[in-house]
Amino acid sequence: MNAVRGSILLADDEEKILKRLGRALRDEGHDVVEATTAREAQRHLGERAFDLLVVDNVMPGMTGMDLIRELAQTTSPGERPQIVMMTAHGSTQIVREAFKLGVEDFLEKPFEVDELLALARRAVKSLRLQTERQYLISERDAEFNHYGIVGRSRAMQEVIERSALVAETKSTVLITGETGTGKEMVARLIHHRSAQREMPLIKVNCAAIPDTLLESELFGHVRGAFTGATMTKRGKFALADGGTIFLDEIGTLSVAIQSKLLRVLQEREFEPLGAERTQRVDVRVIAATNRDLKQMVSEGRFQEDLYYRLNVIPVAIPPLRERRDDIPVLIEHFVQKHRQRTGKRIDGVAEDVVQSLQRYEWPGNVRELENTIERAVVLATGPQITAGSISLLGATSAPSPGLPSLGLHQNLEWVERETIRRALEQSGGIKKDAAELMGISQRALSYYLAKYRID
Ligand SMILES: Nc1ncnc2c1ncn2[C@@H]1O[C@H](COP(=O)(O)OP(=O)(O)OP(=O)(O)O)[C@@H](O)[C@H]1O
Ligand SMILES: [Mg+2]
Repeated sequence: MNAVRGSILLADDEEKILKRLGRALRDEGHDVVEATTAREAQRHLGERAFDLLVVDNVMPGMTGMDLIRELAQTTSPGERPQIVMMTAHGSTQIVREAFKLGVEDFLEKPFEVDELLALARRAVKSLRLQTERQYLISERDAEFNHYGIVGRSRAMQEVIERSALVAETKSTVLITGETGTGKEMVARLIHHRSAQREMPLIKVNCAAIPDTLLESELFGHVRGAFTGATMTKRGKFALADGGTIFLDEIGTLSVAIQSKLLRVLQEREFEPLGAERTQRVDVRVIAATNRDLKQMVSEGRFQEDLYYRLNVIPVAIPPLRERRDDIPVLIEHFVQKHRQRTGKRIDGVAEDVVQSLQRYEWPGNVRELENTIERAVVLATGPQITAGSISLLGATSAPSPGLPSLGLHQNLEWVERETIRRALEQSGGIKKDAAELMGISQRALSYYLAKYRID
């Protein structure tokens, strides 16, 4: 069996040679189109794709070389067939130019038919490998090169595309989205795709730093600038010079800091606390928030100028419930991730569970989904995650009562409490049955009932 059958365009003005070579190639299983002039070959090339072009150089009118030159000018390497050129003995000059134009190989006339067959086989094979490699690379890119961002929904694809586009610029980006939608991941993606990827990406969580410290955190201070400033300290902006600064939770900034930030965005300069000298920086700013900044502007809680300076390129990540297509791929992704981490043997999630997770509202978005899966992986007793280990975690089509807080710990407690409440509801208050439903012992249930003060 010949696994390397290709489509071949054969061009030679000598009919007899053309026929003989054509027949030999067909006998090998190739699909062959013959042309007696370069023009004719050119027409065929315009009409369909070939794996290989075998072309004689010396032909009346347009030569083989002319044809190749023209191909090189009008097509990109990926669009062209492989090219083998038939030449007269000793035409070194031609060979050199042809190589430059991407011709794969030469057949010096007169040659044995077997030589052509071997060349054709090799050319088609190498083309196949190349295509395969290209395909694998693009597949891998699509899956993994978004720095861990998983998503197949249209909305997420658009977020990724837009991020890739802004990555090439130095424009300020404002990422918005509910908690847990992946804002930080997108910020990382933008930095890692930018020309500044080798330079630092510095993150500042504006909400986590008390206002009194934030200014020095961002802009630095000199020794003695305030009580306790025993040493000069470089701020995050200075540290990010040449790279990216990621200002997370920008909606929590005080009005005073907002003005200082506005100045950096406008002038690309600032003064460290207590310093007399102005410092210049070259940084890209990426800001993120789960608040409605526009609303805050209208309420006078966020400076309008700053809002417009930040919102140069908006990237809005929709909540998970508005892109439910992403849920199955995310589930698979997180099962894999946590299976690896825990070393548990888990094949996947039962189909009905996937479906009910897909209907859930996910107020905590992807983070909540990840927590749910992580927990299910940890708790799973069999090779499949079934309703028993997960459906009681709150996955229903009913609107969720909402998570009480953003802390992981509190969320998990909430989930535990909800799970127990529902199990009791389903078992009509019979503890033994409820414990069984949850796959825990009665003793464990008693512990939880006491812990959460459930009657
Ligand atoms: N599309 C995604 N693919 C894979 N993991 C994701 C995706 N989106 C979010 N995650 C995961 O969810 C968690 C939350 O993501 P991230 O911290 O980027 O969200 P966020 O929008 O910054 O949340 P917050 O507003 O609470 O800070 C992370 O653990 C991240 O790995
Ligand atoms: Mg975040």
